Amino acid sequence: MRTRQNESTMNKFYKINTYGCQMNVHESEKVAGILEEMGYLACPEGESADIIVFNTCCIRDTAERRALGNIGVVKAEKKTNPDLILAVFGCMTQQEGVADTIKNRYPYVDIVLGTRNIAMLKTEIEKVIRSRETKKKSDKKYRCFDRSMPTDYLEIDEKTPQTRTSFPNAWVNIIYGCNNFCTYCIVPYVRDRELSRDMSSVLDEVKKCVNDGYKEITLLGQNVNSYGNDIADKSVNFANLLKKIDEIEGDFRVRFMTSHPKDLSDEVIDAMANSKHICRNLHLPIQSGSDKVLKDMNRRYTREHYLDLITKLRSAMPDIGITTDIMVGFPTETEEDFEDTMGIVREVRYSNAFTFIYSPRKGTPAAKMEQIPYAVKQARIEKLIALQNSITKEISNDYINGVYRVLCEDFAEKHNGMVCGRTEGGRLVTFPGTADDIGKFFDVEITEARSASLFGKKKV
Ligand code: SAH
Ligand code: SF4
Ligand code: F3S
Repeated sequence: MRTRQNESTMNKFYKINTYGCQMNVHESEKVAGILEEMGYLACPEGESADIIVFNTCCIRDTAERRALGNIGVVKAEKKTNPDLILAVFGCMTQQEGVADTIKNRYPYVDIVLGTRNIAMLKTEIEKVIRSRETKKKSDKKYRCFDRSMPTDYLEIDEKTPQTRTSFPNAWVNIIYGCNNFCTYCIVPYVRDRELSRDMSSVLDEVKKCVNDGYKEITLLGQNVNSYGNDIADKSVNFANLLKKIDEIEGDFRVRFMTSHPKDLSDEVIDAMANSKHICRNLHLPIQSGSDKVLKDMNRRYTREHYLDLITKLRSAMPDIGITTDIMVGFPTETEEDFEDTMGIVREVRYSNAFTFIYSPRKGTPAAKMEQIPYAVKQARIEKLIALQNSITKEISNDYINGVYRVLCEDFAEKHNGMVCGRTEGGRLVTFPGTADDIGKFFDVEITEARSASLFGKKKV
């Protein structure tokens, strides 16, 4: 452990606590990039950090409470190390009133930044350090965006350094924000309107990742299909971006998320079907199987349109793996509406589904509607999970004896001497292997299926 006497000669360490989606995971890589450029190092196990960053999420009440709880916990750490710098960043800080709550309830937090202010982290840290050195009261400001956030955000973002932490996968953001305003969702309020990156910047970043040895590129956006809608040149769209990425030479695969069913075009389906690098794997959130609920959610597609998309996708790519997000307990969801959701799950047979209990988000239209009792929501989600589990198990059994190309991604949790990776369709496979295998492709023969997990061995 370090002693404070020889502090000046010691390394300075950072810790980042990330909550929420892949977008946040990637933005934490930018936070890490900024901190490393400032001379901080990732905090080794057992050491105490000099700066702790919370990258927060507020998609559901649970996510928000977890982050706030943990910000509360570091108060003790701050007492034993008054030099510790605490920064809170991400979606939660952008919610109405939250910056004030942090100011009042967690006054020991030094820096609060919004989702489009990552690049300000360096100057804010420098300010905190300066004010401590001069013992002057810090001119602490909470810099979350208002409607006048910098218009040169993209330009700033292109220059932000990144420390990638997900090898062999590299996250590449293609579009920020969301214009959709689904009535339950907080994201458009906390991440602002859509802003697409230049196609040339995205292509350069993908090429660099491939040259640096990354084997899987995951394109990120709240709605990747809206890519380019805010750019005057109409040739800049998601289908063309996929085609251009597919022309890049190298042994790598591409995934993307998330696709909104109202915007998934035939051109994108064609681009996927005719590609070398794009995985036959699609995450296509349905949310509900009831047309009435979809309308109340402002999803702007019908059950029929969604099912047509599934048919098109499967006729273009019979082996495609389709996953989804489903929400139960939206305020206007009746038992009959819920049965419509169960029906569509039976019909589509997703390889996996992420299921959520609707959580009212302050400031969204659905939060003002009359709510369903929690026990009803709980009963519905249990039924839905049981149904999806039985489907996943059936689908898993079909994999046995098949041989699949798997990108080895990591050591397998809880299985000594084993590694894991995903098939092109997105199924996780665990097989015997070593650290050397991480980042390489293998043909793996599936020998056992345990519900959602597949087990196999390298085919020699
Ligand atoms: N942009 C993506 C989803 C982002 S949020 C899309 O449109 O699909 C990820 C998932 O969280 C959503 O698909 C939805 O199922 C769920 N979600 C969003 N708001 C929620 C809320 N208020 N309560 C519960 N789940 C929510
Ligand atoms: Fe939220 Fe809808 Fe935007 Fe997805 S598309 S982020 S669910 S508002
Ligand atoms: Fe959460 Fe923000 Fe992602 S609210 S789910 S971290 S976009």
